[in-house]
Amino acid sequence: MKILLVDGTVIGTKTGVILEQVKDYIEEVNSEYTLEIIHLSNYEHQFVDGRPFENYNDDMKLLVSKFDQADGFIIASPIFQGSIPGVLKNTFDFLHPKSMRYKPVSIVANGGTYQHHLVIENQLKPILDYFRCLVTPNYVYTHKSHFDENNVIIDNDVHDRLRELARVFVQYAEMSKNLSKEPMDVR
Ligand SMILES: Cc1cc2nc3c(=O)[nH]c(=O)nc-3n(C[C@H](O)[C@H](O)[C@H](O)COP(=O)(O)O)c2cc1C
Repeated sequence: MKILLVDGTVIGTKTGVILEQVKDYIEEVNSEYTLEIIHLSNYEHQFVDGRPFENYNDDMKLLVSKFDQADGFIIASPIFQGSIPGVLKNTFDFLHPKSMRYKPVSIVANGGTYQHHLVIENQLKPILDYFRCLVTPNYVYTHKSHFDENNVIIDNDVHDRLRELARVFVQYAEMSKNLSKEPMDVR
């Protein structure tokens, strides 16, 4: 299975650090997956404005193909202005509605306040529900107090929750293997 770990921001480092850790924990549970971390900061973004697909740049087309070809996702988002970054929403806007359908997804997020974990519940999960993703019931929200000055995760509880997230994600990923992405023929 190809798992895409998406760092959904063009600024900041903590979400990328969390993804590296999740990648290690998924590999501990199942070493057979192909895991790829992508950072949206490495892509040249264009606003999704309804132009013909062929008029988007190569980076935008590459992003779409990576989502289409992946069998599952870890989405990492910082909290910006009580929401997800615009660049992450713009990326979702560019996907075909079936691109993530019935594929497993786990969420990790980081914010400057403790309270904004609800952004995940109220804003990110509904988008993934629209895509009909298999969103794991657990997600991990971190805060700067969980990191040291070098952005190393130093909070043991966060490590435990990331390990648990990896365990459940792999179960969802295995389940999704037998779930057809096409509807049943009900003639
Ligand atoms: C433009 C901007 C808006 C932000 N808004 C929020 C916010 O509404 N709530 C919150 O908890 N953190 C907010 N933050 C803090 C970021 O979530 C935090 O800096 C990021 O997750 C960690 O980035 P770092 O790797 O640069 O430390 C904001 C940061 C920026 C740059």
